Amino acid sequence: MSPSPAFQLTRTLPEDATGAALRADVRHGLTRSPKTLPPKWFYDARGSELFDEITTLPEYYPTRAEREILVARAGEIAAATGARTLVELGSGSSDKTRHLLDAFGELTTYVPVDVSESALRGAARTLLDAHPALDIHALVADFTGALALPATPGPRLVAFLGGTIGNLLPEERTAFLTSVRGLLSPGDFFLLGTDLVKDEETLVAAYDDAAGVTAAFDKNVLAVVNRELGADFDPAAFEHVARWDAEREWIEMRLRATTAQSVKIPALDLAVDFAAGEELRTEISAKFRQDGVRSELRAAGLELAKWWTDGADRFALSLSSVPSP
Ligand code: SAH
Ligand code: AVI
Repeated sequence: MSPSPAFQLTRTLPEDATGAALRADVRHGLTRSPKTLPPKWFYDARGSELFDEITTLPEYYPTRAEREILVARAGEIAAATGARTLVELGSGSSDKTRHLLDAFGELTTYVPVDVSESALRGAARTLLDAHPALDIHALVADFTGALALPATPGPRLVAFLGGTIGNLLPEERTAFLTSVRGLLSPGDFFLLGTDLVKDEETLVAAYDDAAGVTAAFDKNVLAVVNRELGADFDPAAFEHVARWDAEREWIEMRLRATTAQSVKIPALDLAVDFAAGEELRTEISAKFRQDGVRSELRAAGLELAKWWTDGADRFALSLSSVPSP
């Protein structure tokens, strides 16, 4: 008889996940110049759906490129790590994760970690159909904070796919990688997806698609602030901008005010003025080179062991380990 399906969901964020932290981020980000908002607020249920739609767009190559690598290398990753627990940070729909789960004979436990509870629940429903014996311990948590992982069988593989590390600013990446290192013991591994530097035209098209799905995703953050903080942003009064910063090697997504306007945010007792043409930065998406990834990992105490790219060298998956003492 096969074991009964196990699904547990633990919230390490307060019940009002979009409460105090959102208020602090919005006050901080909209009262400084230039204005900014952190990208994690894109991902309410609608934002998670829009992201999934982005992954199917012809211009958005990262998901397809990373999937190609996973399909080719999942067996090798399973053999190299022998992992019994897979922890995935920012797991979203866990769609590509299936390729890993199918290849890992020894795996007993999957710990998806995401701020989006709706994404975690949707992913678990789909995964349990294909892997009824898998113990799924979902964690609603912010991966930039201190993560308290459940005690599960080792060795542990921590995966961070999709290139989401690129959505962190360089100083945030340093802190993040150091905290990932703290989750690992000797014999554990870290699997990291990084999008690679490439020509500007390909990059800008990936973040400004012809169908306007990325524009809708970008503007969704305004809908989140309206709903959660009672604000009166008019999404139609902003346009989506995607720009390549060649010096910092990152894409910046911004929302540009088409007219001068004042936005009220009652929950903060705040009015925010935008000049015509003023831009609000909503996301960076950094692109990487192998040397940079290796040195960022090393600075956090991790050793790059494997580096795989797709056939067109658009995206890389790296496996790193904890150096022996
Ligand atoms: N890994 C998936 C999804 C990438 S989208 C893929 O490769 O396709 C980014 C995911 O990270 C979303 O599901 C979003 O909800 C989650 N996320 C973004 N910021 C986060 C944070 N600070 N803490 C936890 N999850 C976060
Ligand atoms: C989740 N993350 C890796 C995506 C990216 O490509 O930076 C988010 C995204 N933003 C616009 N399109 C996709």
